[in-house]
Amino acid sequence: MSTTHPPTGPGASAAPAVEARGVSRTFDSRSGEVVALTGVDLTVRAGEFVALIGPSGCGKSTLLRLIADLDQPTAGELTVFGRTPRAARQNQDYGIAFQQAGLLPWRTVRANVELPLELHGTGRAARGARARELLDLVGLAEFAEHHPHQLSGGMQQRVAIARALAESPSLLLMDEPFGALDEMTREHMQTELLRLRAETGAAVVFVTHSIPEAVYLSDRVVVMSARPGRVREIVSVALGDAADRSEDLREDVAFFDRVRAVRESLHGTGNGTGNGTGAGTGTSTGAATGAGRGADAR
Ligand SMILES: Nc1ncnc2c1ncn2[C@@H]1O[C@H](COP(=O)(O)OP(=O)(O)OP(=O)(O)O)[C@@H](O)[C@H]1O
Ligand SMILES: [Mg+2]
Repeated sequence: MSTTHPPTGPGASAAPAVEARGVSRTFDSRSGEVVALTGVDLTVRAGEFVALIGPSGCGKSTLLRLIADLDQPTAGELTVFGRTPRAARQNQDYGIAFQQAGLLPWRTVRANVELPLELHGTGRAARGARARELLDLVGLAEFAEHHPHQLSGGMQQRVAIARALAESPSLLLMDEPFGALDEMTREHMQTELLRLRAETGAAVVFVTHSIPEAVYLSDRVVVMSARPGRVREIVSVALGDAADRSEDLREDVAFFDRVRAVRESLHGTGNGTGNGTGAGTGTSTGAATGAGRGADAR
């Protein structure tokens, strides 16, 4: 089943899902300027899954908020399917899911999923049909008339994901969506997300603190460095199509190899002294296994 409409409009078809060139964001605070992001270059292709990982405060959420038009860069260029983030938002090109499911407690599961459609004027019958389809997709069809407090945390997060998919976005922006879940539920949700992604063909930008989660889900892992936040390195994962990734992959030697590459890159980032070990290790892994897929160390 395909539920994603290809982006429409001038120049949109060939455009990457996200293109950032020299993107910076500086915040003014009482104690001076905080450079949250500086000189970020990143291209996320249509349909690609990219994870952002890096130490706390390195600007991951800031970058996601810029893409989502919830904030504006202080310098640089940012486009979403070839449009400004604002135009992409107006065109409903992306859906958003954050760490807190953020469901409205007084609405049923179905009414929560229908909310974005309601806000954009979709008729009742079409809304209901779409909500049924989505709740089926995330395995919650039986819970349509429940309220959020009657669901577990993992189920609430699935409702939030269904809501994010309501308008068939070509891009999903996810900020630690599984951060509050126990390990078992989390692995289950990761497998679900891979399936959803295979079914919808949406590109995903996914923020996480978990190295195995980043590797399991992604085509590429963007390792960021702290203060000022920048892209330190991009590790190609290249472990196959989302649809072909099974639970067995978590025990695969190739999986551990990529986990190690990302870990070494992160550790290189953590000491704040520069570009040595991390870049070398991760890039060689990426180049060996994912040639031509953008193992572009920075
Ligand atoms: N609205 C704001 N005003 C001032 N400073 C901000 C604002 N938003 C973020 N910052 C600062 O920008 C930096 C990056 O913050 P951000 O939330 O993007 O980090 P993060 O990588 O998502 O961290 P975490 O992993 O802890 O979620 C931090 O130093 C933060 O204090
Ligand atoms: Mg954050």
